[in-house]
Amino acid sequence: MNEDAWEYSIDIPHNPLAVGVARGALRLILRAHGPVELLPAAELVASELVTNAHAHAPGPACLRVKRTGPWLRLSVWDSSGEPPRVGLCGVDGEGGRGLRIVEELADRWGHYAFGAPGPGGKLVWCELGGGQ
Ligand SMILES: Nc1ncnc2c1ncn2[C@@H]1O[C@H](COP(=O)(O)OP(=O)(O)OP(=O)(O)O)[C@@H](O)[C@H]1O
Ligand SMILES: [Mg+2]
Repeated sequence: MNEDAWEYSIDIPHNPLAVGVARGALRLILRAHGPVELLPAAELVASELVTNAHAHAPGPACLRVKRTGPWLRLSVWDSSGEPPRVGLCGVDGEGGRGLRIVEELADRWGHYAFGAPGPGGKLVWCELGGGQ
């Protein structure tokens, strides 16, 4: 396999194992291929994106982990057509922090919907690694 370009897709169950499955897979993948320096940030943003898929969308999700040149791209598909919305989060607010964390740690992020025909739902993606 070309170490500069590889890709994995991981099925994420819609149950309390969701985040553990995502983090465990990410650890295995980055320890096998590198770059391990990105692992802490990658685990954190993957946790937030998978938690959002679990909390705000019904059914299973899919995490894709892709390396292209310097970039590590993490994408999470879920079945909801509702877009993620970066909100205002007060000091005492109970939510609205997840996407802030993604914004802070990722070099760039975004989302797009899948219209019919097709799987429907949407993909939320982010990229890390540009600074290396
Ligand atoms: N995968 C998703 N599907 C649908 N809506 C989403 C999704 N991800 C985020 N959102 C919307 O964007 C909002 C902000 O997401 P964010 O992760 O920042 O905060 P949160 O999930 O509400 O709280 P937390 O601080 O626990 O992450 C959510 O409240 C939700 O309305
Ligand atoms: Mg969240």
